[in-house]
Parts: sequence; C-alpha cells; structure tokens
Amino acid sequence: MTELTPLHGKRILLIIGGGIAAYKTLELIRRLRDKGVHVRALMTKAAHEFVTPLSVSSLTGEKVYTDLFDLTDEAEMGHIQLSRDADLLLVAPATADLMARMVAGMANDLATTALLATDKPVMVAPAMNVRMWEHKATQRNIAQLAQDGVGFIGPDDGDMACGEFGPGRFSETPDIIAAVENHFRASSEPLSGSLAGPLAGRHILVTSGPTHEPIDPVRYLANRSSGKQGHAIAGSLARLGAQVTLVAGPTTQPNPAGVTVVQIETAREMLAACQTALPADGVICAAAVADWRVAQDAEQKMKKGPDGVPALALTENPDILATISQLPKGKRPALVVGFAAETEKVIEHATAKLARKKCDWLVANDVSPASGVMGGDMNTVHVLSATGRDDWPQLSKTEVAERLARKVADYFST
Ligand code: C5P
Repeated sequence: MTELTPLHGKRILLIIGGGIAAYKTLELIRRLRDKGVHVRALMTKAAHEFVTPLSVSSLTGEKVYTDLFDLTDEAEMGHIQLSRDADLLLVAPATADLMARMVAGMANDLATTALLATDKPVMVAPAMNVRMWEHKATQRNIAQLAQDGVGFIGPDDGDMACGEFGPGRFSETPDIIAAVENHFRASSEPLSGSLAGPLAGRHILVTSGPTHEPIDPVRYLANRSSGKQGHAIAGSLARLGAQVTLVAGPTTQPNPAGVTVVQIETAREMLAACQTALPADGVICAAAVADWRVAQDAEQKMKKGPDGVPALALTENPDILATISQLPKGKRPALVVGFAAETEKVIEHATAKLARKKCDWLVANDVSPASGVMGGDMNTVHVLSATGRDDWPQLSKTEVAERLARKVADYFST
C-alpha cells in the first residue's frame, strides 16, 4: 500500500554506481516505490557487473538507461531531459571514482553527463572500502561536493564486503529514505543549481573530544573520549547543509568535510572558542569536558624529590553547556543539546542533568567500561527532552550522528 509521505508523487533519477552495494538499490527502489515515488534508473557500465538492468527495470517498471545510450534512446528521451525530468538525482552507491568525476565536472559517460546537465538537487550515498573513503583525495572530493551543494547520505561505519571495518559502508535503506524524505520536507520547491539541504542557512556549533588540563608543561589530566561521536555529528550536520563550527579537543579524528574546525586543549579555551563562534542557531555539546583542572599548574616540570608525592589541588572548570543554555533570550541559541556520559543510573542522572543544565535535549549514554562506548564505534543513547524520552537502539556512532542531525533538521523545519 502506498503511504502518503513527503515522497509521494516525487520523481527521482537513481544513478546506480559500480560497487558491490549496487544490489542494495533493488530494495531501495522497492521501498521508494512503496512510498509513491516515481523512480527512473540510470546505471553506470561498472554497475552492470553487480546488478542487471533487467532486475532494475523490473522494479522501476521503466526502461533503464545505461551508458550504452544509443540514438533510439536519445530520440525518445534526450540526456538533458533525462537529467531534468526529476525532482532529485540520487547517486547510490556513489563510488570514489564517480564522485571524483563529479568533482572534476567530467561528462565521459551517461551518469556524469546527466549530473553535469542537471539543474536539480543532487544527493549521494557513498559506498567504498574504508581506506578509499579515508584517502585524502576522496576527503578532498567530498569537501568539494559538499561545497557545491551536493547532499550526503552516510556512509555508515561497519563491516564491509571486503572484510574490513570502518566508515564507507552504504547506508541502510531506511536511512537513505529518511534523508531523501527530509530533503523534500525541507524544500517544497527544488533549489536551483544545487541542493542546499534542510539545514542550509543555519549555523550549528558542535563541541567534541576531551579536554586536556595541564598539571605542568608535560603532564595533563584527561579522559578517554575519542571525539568520534562529536566529529560524526559535525559531519552529518554539514552534509545536511548547515554551516558547522566544530570546537575540538585533542583527538586523532580527521576533520569532517565541510566543517570549520577550531582546535583547543583546555575547558577554558573551549569556552572561549565557543563564545567567539556564537551566535549560532543550535549548539551540540558532545565534548567530554574535564570538570576540574589543577588550580595552579606548575611552570616547570615537577620533579620527584625528598618532599614526597605532590598534592594536586583541583578547581572547577566552567560548564560550557550550562553557560550557553543560560544565555539571555536573544543571545541563547534556539536549540541547545547536551550529552550525558554516565556509568550508572543513566536515565536518573540524565534527567537531573537536563534540568540542572537547562538545555533543550540531553543525549544520555552508558559509558561504563563494559559498554565499550568510550573509544568504540557503537553507542546506545536515550534522547531526553521536556516532552519525554526516546530510547534509540544500539547504533554505530555514525548512525547516531545521522539520526541526531536529522532530528535537528526536523526541529528547524517545523
Ligand atoms: O556534567 P557533565 O559533564 O556530565 O555534563 C555533560 C554535558 O555537559 C556534555 O554535553 C558536556 O559537553 C557538557 N559539559 C560542558 N562543560 C563542562 C562539563 C560538561 O559543556 N565543563
């Protein structure tokens, strides 16, 4: 049965790239059609190695256009018309090669010709090996595509067909559909030239990673935060079109594409960087900020000596989340989101924290050693707000980021 959603009656040109994930587009086509979408498909030559045009056309109920675009095809449907006769061009799976050709503005096959000729929004759902995804060339291309207005869906973290683990996995079908739905919900009219994304025009500030609090010039107090969750959130928000400032403590995470990153070390530097970055429409405080610092850090390296073990007197750090949440009206961002990393009584402590910090949403998670969350790739979160609590299933940190970014986009679109 066809459900009435923002997708109903929309026309999507699905460009199927040549990756192992191409077979998953068969399920995607079915689900899109269930939602009343008119799907026309175009396959690259490499995609034929993974899925046949016959299977694709059986599901779209339409002729499938291929790179072997002949004169009969051109007479029936010119390539310019093909590229414009849609509300959205969705490239799935988007391979590293296809994205590189998009960045270069190449038109050496039907897929790239359609992408170059279109005046409609473009979204890509990348899928590739983790090393290919992390390669500087791919990261450069992603940043350029994001700047050109292309919307990104994923990729997810996870096991891959090649046996490796990490970012690069094709997003799950429901996540792709949700992202496309959000696009149509946010833009009742297609935007000319590029996809601005549902968060276009919004400035979102994100904090991520730990802080390092100096004891002396070579020692510091820190925590086990990897910055994976906060950095993923910044990347997901940018892919939805937001202008993102990421204030990041010391981490080994790569800078997310399309995000302005401000590196800091201490909680006080983080607060100052956030204050400089304001105003913002939304703030996501995902950093694991040290609650305390050494009251007086030593100017020189502390030495072992006859006086025995030094006592470290601690003092409280500024609370960035509480400070921003309690800014006066007019200066306070419309949406302030905090995180609560708890090792016990997760909901109880998080509920108290939501009230104490005066933020709008609080994302709570269990970071006890048994959970493997600190430094790991998975997370199980509960999103608390004044209106109640949403318990999300165990997800990769990338998926948590995607969902949270979409929730932020929904917040600003209503
Ligand atoms: O109180 P607690 O540290 O558990 O609160 C966690 C939330 O508060 C997180 O969103 C964290 O980024 C934020 N926080 C902060 N500044 C601090 C301590 C925590 O912004 N000094």
